[in-house]
Amino acid sequence: MAYILGIESSCDETAASVVVDGSEVLSNVVASQIDKHAPHGGVVPELAAREHLKAIECVVKSALENANVSLKDISAISVTNGPGLMPALLVGVNFAKALAFANDIPFIGANHFLAHIYGAFLDGKKTHLSEPIYPMLALVVSGGHSSLLLISDDGKARIIGYSIDDAAGEAFDKGAKLLGLGYPGGPIIEKTGQGGNISKYDFPRSLTGKSGKKVTEENKFNFSFSGLKTSLLYHTKKLQKENILEDELVDTVASYQEAIVDVLTIKTKSAYEKFNAKSVVLCGGVACNGVLRERFMQTFDKDKLFIAPKKYCTDNAAMVAGIGYHLFKQEKFDVKEVDAYARLPLITEVPFIL
Ligand code: KG4
Ligand code: ZN
Repeated sequence: MAYILGIESSCDETAASVVVDGSEVLSNVVASQIDKHAPHGGVVPELAAREHLKAIECVVKSALENANVSLKDISAISVTNGPGLMPALLVGVNFAKALAFANDIPFIGANHFLAHIYGAFLDGKKTHLSEPIYPMLALVVSGGHSSLLLISDDGKARIIGYSIDDAAGEAFDKGAKLLGLGYPGGPIIEKTGQGGNISKYDFPRSLTGKSGKKVTEENKFNFSFSGLKTSLLYHTKKLQKENILEDELVDTVASYQEAIVDVLTIKTKSAYEKFNAKSVVLCGGVACNGVLRERFMQTFDKDKLFIAPKKYCTDNAAMVAGIGYHLFKQEKFDVKEVDAYARLPLITEVPFIL
């Protein structure tokens, strides 16, 4: 059995986890810095790095303790080395590197974007289905990403759609900020919009063709959320002028959220049909959103839908340990080769086949 210690510090969560054979999660410790960043209305990279430094040793210790294992039991250490905020990543990568080096443990660099996808397959949620699940279409929606990845049965993968401006999570965060609701916007918007009229205000669904504007071939599966944000700004100003923003807040927020959910569902559905996909994965922080989860359940056959459990949607290290297991099996580890990187590299494959 392989015990992988996962470490995550790419944004504002310091996390560590021990996972057995890429499936059984023995511990999953997450120290969130949300309170530190909230007054700034977003994540401040240097502040994030300082907070990771304070928390990381304790978080890793707790993950080992909760799993009832010691470093001697660990087969490999898997750390997120990108994409993410560089100062934040460097803390996790260097801590993990030193730990691996000092204890002579194999060391793995894991891609955070692909780890989010693996979040849907932890806790033994393996797919021993008789029906084919490939090609698999994964929608990764978080604070940093809104992408559709098409994965074939040999592990080859390619991005078929991405956001040409803001990520879906940013649309939530910036929308909430604009309305003065706080940070992070996703959970606040979901809560505030509960019970609101989702079709009261018709916010734009960019690049879907719904406005009557033709979508170019190039943008067919791409996302754009900046127009939506601008539209919310004008809408808010109008309501403020009329002195009815407070009365209309719930409907405004519900309609705004609906526009995001609608776009994500339309694009995923049309890509699913176009590429003849056999299953869909929904993952990343935005996948915590109850309305989005529900819409995907209504849209796709439940046997073909893999929605990451909420605890593995937002940043965590279980997904990092989980994907690390597959890299470990492929002997993709080397202390010297693992460096931090900020931007998503070209994706051509995923390290796991289910
Ligand atoms: O995956 P994640 O923790 O970090 C990144 O890798 O970016 O995602 C964080 C994002 C934030 O933008 C946050 O507002 C969003 O996920 N989020 C949500 C919800 N919970 C978190 N968005 C919509 N609804 C939610 N319930
Ligand atoms: Zn993430």
